[in-house]
Amino acid sequence: MNPSGDERFQRCAVTELSALEHALALAWRGWGRVQPNPMVGAVVLRDGEQVAEGWHAEFGGEHAEAVALRAAGDRAKGATLAVTLEPCRHHGKQPPCTDLIRQAGVRRVVIGLPDPNPLAAGGAAELRAGGVEVTLASFTAVSRQNAIFFHQFNHPDRPFVALKLATSVDGAIADRAGRCRWISGPEARAFVHWLRAGFDAIAVGGRTARRDDPALTVRGEVTPRVPPRRLVFSRSGDLRGATQLLDPTQPPLLVVGDAAGDARVALQRAGAEVIPAETLAEGLRALRRRGVLSLLVEGGGQLAGRLLAAQLVDRFYWIHSPLWLGPGSVPAFGDLPSQGLEDAERWAVAERRALGDDTLLVLESRACSAAS
Ligand SMILES: NC(=O)c1ccc[n+]([C@@H]2O[C@H](COP(=O)([O-])OP(=O)(O)OC[C@H]3O[C@@H](n4cnc5c(N)ncnc54)[C@H](OP(=O)(O)O)[C@@H]3O)[C@@H](O)[C@H]2O)c1
Repeated sequence: MNPSGDERFQRCAVTELSALEHALALAWRGWGRVQPNPMVGAVVLRDGEQVAEGWHAEFGGEHAEAVALRAAGDRAKGATLAVTLEPCRHHGKQPPCTDLIRQAGVRRVVIGLPDPNPLAAGGAAELRAGGVEVTLASFTAVSRQNAIFFHQFNHPDRPFVALKLATSVDGAIADRAGRCRWISGPEARAFVHWLRAGFDAIAVGGRTARRDDPALTVRGEVTPRVPPRRLVFSRSGDLRGATQLLDPTQPPLLVVGDAAGDARVALQRAGAEVIPAETLAEGLRALRRRGVLSLLVEGGGQLAGRLLAAQLVDRFYWIHSPLWLGPGSVPAFGDLPSQGLEDAERWAVAERRALGDDTLLVLESRACSAAS
């Protein structure tokens, strides 16, 4: 019996599934450092025992399989390699992993999920053709971990969009005076800095930019390989008060919206790039054309509601905190159209966990993934 009860796993031994779980945990160590590559982890097993492990640590650097096989040395001969994503078979910045696996004499390869990248895919078939036993485990946690990577092949028209909000129990993102510092506690704020490191751009709405003067920089444990671009959605182009966003010593600022005239000139003089867009969808398409593969939107409520109403949110990181803010506070979702129970989309729960006194709930849109 396999631990998950999922019949798709039944061709793998329990030790192989545990190895895949471990490889998945190792892969997270590449967060913020490997994009636009996927995070990948690998484990070498002999007689059910782990003898080596590896992960893809840096964009352009050695792949997880290569690291694990090097660590295993001669023990890789006749061994099983568990790897979260299908080994590549193409010459990129690194040699094909399929060649390394065959040269090492690996007997069996257990793969979490096939590679969605048409350039790199086909490794499983190539290994089989070379006499290696291959099992595909349908380990969906891999696509969840690499949602940004998978999204670019399924949805090439716009970035992967994640929304992050910290709310009170009664669903407010700021008190009646518009203050939101701090609804959540230090553990949740540390998590947000970790989260930011894995995104290409961090965004807020115009009112949040003026009200909160956010820096939108990464100041946590993980230093991103490329600092995320900072972004404001604004139609007025009015960024008075947003002194940190206009600080030229910080990563570039993009302003998405239909700001025109003096406001637009003032933004450009201040060093911001203005991306003209009449709608949020148009703005997202323009960002994708500029190479933004992933966007973390950190509020406020009006922007959040409009993105949700337009079905432009793939994942929602909801941090809820143990306090009530009552009447007059700022709602988490402005402009959200009302829906009957029969029509409301029920999102998939990807994760629930405590962050100090706060609770993190990660939800994924089924509508967005179905559309992909
Ligand atoms: N607790 C939290 O997680 C959290 C996070 C962020 C903010 N907040 C709080 O939330 C409050 C602000 O939220 P809010 O709901 O009032 O405003 P908001 O969502 O931050 O900003 C709304 C603004 O977004 C811009 N916008 C909306 N639709 C757009 C479109 N289609 N294209 C381009 N730009 C568009 C417009 O900017 P212009 O007006 O410039 O045209 C609009 O006024 C503040 O009090 C802040 O402290 C809390």
